[in-house]
Amino acid sequence: TIVPVILSGGSGTRLWPMSRPEKPKQLLPLTAEATMLQLTAQRAVGERFAAPIVVANARHAEEIEAQLAAVGAEPQALILEPAGRNTAPAIALAALAADPAAPLLVMPSDHVIADVPAFLAAVDAALPLVAEGWLVTFGISPDAPETGYGWIQVGEEIAARVHRVARFVEKPPRDKAEAMLAAGDHAWNGGIFLFRADAFLAALETHCPQMLAAVTEAMDKAGHDGTRLLPDAEAFARSPDDSIDYAVMEKADRVAVVPVAMGWSDVGSWDALHAISDTDGVGNAHQGEVLAIDTANCLVRTDGARIALVGVEDLIVVASGDDILVLPRGRSQEVKKLIEAMKNR
Ligand code: GDD
Ligand code: MG
Repeated sequence: TIVPVILSGGSGTRLWPMSRPEKPKQLLPLTAEATMLQLTAQRAVGERFAAPIVVANARHAEEIEAQLAAVGAEPQALILEPAGRNTAPAIALAALAADPAAPLLVMPSDHVIADVPAFLAAVDAALPLVAEGWLVTFGISPDAPETGYGWIQVGEEIAARVHRVARFVEKPPRDKAEAMLAAGDHAWNGGIFLFRADAFLAALETHCPQMLAAVTEAMDKAGHDGTRLLPDAEAFARSPDDSIDYAVMEKADRVAVVPVAMGWSDVGSWDALHAISDTDGVGNAHQGEVLAIDTANCLVRTDGARIALVGVEDLIVVASGDDILVLPRGRSQEVKKLIEAMKNR
């Protein structure tokens, strides 16, 4: 059976003010009544799957356990990082906790997949090559020169639906992204991976041995508390801080991709959330206590304060706690700048 590995370490700063360090994006109900973490866990249930391994920041332990219990998706292990070292060490922790031959389905906890059957069919297509030790990614058809994604040049088909990765380029500069979009033979990396635990660890040994050594020591000295696993802080801190994309996927051989149309979004901004939301007849997507007269194409959300709008268009308005964010649609990437500005005050 496949072991789902759910990564829940990100802070999701571009969805401020709802997403905050103490309750980041993946722990919020952004796209449905369930939180993004719950939706992720519910995607990987049924005969194919064992209970998930969740890797998260220690400060979120109670909240994660409560959210997963509420949907009957209790983890077999909750690995609590003393401090985040990015995705490569986080995945290594899970790989060391799992049976070496187990296929691991590594999933970010903060993505939307509208067509889950299409996702599961892509997973099934990948399994034969995964058994042979390939590292498999899932390719999303690109429609913009995104610089925040990994780009995959799709090579020849090596099994039904599965292609060799000719090249993997993480977060390219704008001109390279434009060239890859124009070339027509590239996909975005969906950030979801499927590989045997031992295949990933072998690639880590080859391409980043210091990381494998530090994480292995952190696991050897880990504390246990029921299903909670607490890697040794001092050893884990010695791991290089790097993502799986840079540390492994750009460098490894035997990397494959399954192109899949599954209604994928990483909900990376308020604009992205508006784009995937159900809207009224004039493009509004509201949540919470919102009163809007003669407005169009607005995203308005509040978790408390009442918001009232008259005669505006193309606005994003988000109220959470004591904070209110207002910006025109199309500029929500700039929330990152706001966060920086607030840090420096
Ligand atoms: N446990 C843990 N620890 N999880 C982490 C950590 C960490 O230190 N850092 C990030 N994560 C989680 C995030 O919560 C998210 O769910 C996932 O791992 C991916 O991390 P991001 O920081 O969101 O990565 P990214 O969006 O910049 O890039 C990745 O995703 C893109 C698609 O959305 C890459 O895989 C890209 O190649 C890909 O295109
Ligand atoms: Mg992301």
